[in-house]
Amino acid sequence: MIVLGIETSCDETAAAVVRDDRTVLANVVFSQLAEHRPWGGVVPEIAARAHLERLDGLVARAMREGGIGFGDLDGVAATAGPGLIGGLLVGLMTGKAIAAVAGQPFLAVNHLEAHALTPRLTDGVDFPYLVLLVSGGHCQLLVAEDVGRYRRLGGTVDDAVGEAFDKTARLLGLGWPGGPEVERAALTGDPARFALPRPMKGRPGCDFSFAGLKTAVRHAVAALLGGAPAPADVADLSASFQAAVGDVIVDRTANALATFAASHPGVAPALVVAGGVAANRALRTRLATLCEAKDARLVAPPPALCTDNAAMIAWAGIEMLRAGRASGMDARARPRWPLDEAAA
Ligand code: KG4
Ligand code: ZN
Repeated sequence: MIVLGIETSCDETAAAVVRDDRTVLANVVFSQLAEHRPWGGVVPEIAARAHLERLDGLVARAMREGGIGFGDLDGVAATAGPGLIGGLLVGLMTGKAIAAVAGQPFLAVNHLEAHALTPRLTDGVDFPYLVLLVSGGHCQLLVAEDVGRYRRLGGTVDDAVGEAFDKTARLLGLGWPGGPEVERAALTGDPARFALPRPMKGRPGCDFSFAGLKTAVRHAVAALLGGAPAPADVADLSASFQAAVGDVIVDRTANALATFAASHPGVAPALVVAGGVAANRALRTRLATLCEAKDARLVAPPPALCTDNAAMIAWAGIEMLRAGRASGMDARARPRWPLDEAAA
């Protein structure tokens, strides 16, 4: 079974061809970073236009690199949500058109589900397992019970963690996206110099909050010579911020592991990290230490499959086809689409 995947929910235009034996035949991504950088963040209208301009060329390239024609497809999968409506419409319409021409089923994929299913593509992980999804738009802990069955244990009550990285970088005069910049600056910094808050740490449950941490960084920057931090200050504040984020995430994830163990006695726990922030090495190290202490297996897909990509969309399409969950041509774009509708 071969599925074409299309991803256009945010600022990455992507197309991929994946086979059901977990082979990625092609995986092409066009990142719109250069288009959005002057604005310091993703501009929805610019994103939608860029998707429209690039997508057909990327699909053609993925098909060529995969060495297949439209007649070889067993399905076409596109992200239907959650995400920015303009981009979602571009991907959804393109996917439906190709599915119609190829006479194959169309699969409207939930972007969060695709992130959550990625470890089954990369590492063949069996259900059930725990997912920590940390990106610019999402921050949540959920249990993947089966295809289409996810239980949300907790999520952020305000900002996503990637957003906190981006805001911190901006306050420190670093570039966008902020995560990699803060990580780099933190390498030479003193994580103990600034006593930043650890929101939610020590509380029961698995929710997150990052707004207060962001505010604390703003106050710390303002206190440094009227808001113009020297390079050493930037390094120390980056390191202190990253340490605070790490403490919070480890604390919340430890609660999630305990919840998972209680509801799944006898199952060897696996923790999967996904999303752009999962590329952070300091965070990965912290999570590895946690998993070692809790006898859990840590699965961190390679960064290219952690950040937004279309291979995960094609794979989610394969899982949906196998589960008999093809979508109708009337599937609509859903800017908001929680994975666990009951929890939402
Ligand atoms: O998953 P992603 O590529 O896009 C979505 O938001 O869906 O995640 C992007 C986010 C940005 O906020 C970026 O700053 C953050 O992931 N990020 C990082 C790192 N690399 C990317 N955050 C911390 N450390 C990193 N190395
Ligand atoms: Zn994503």
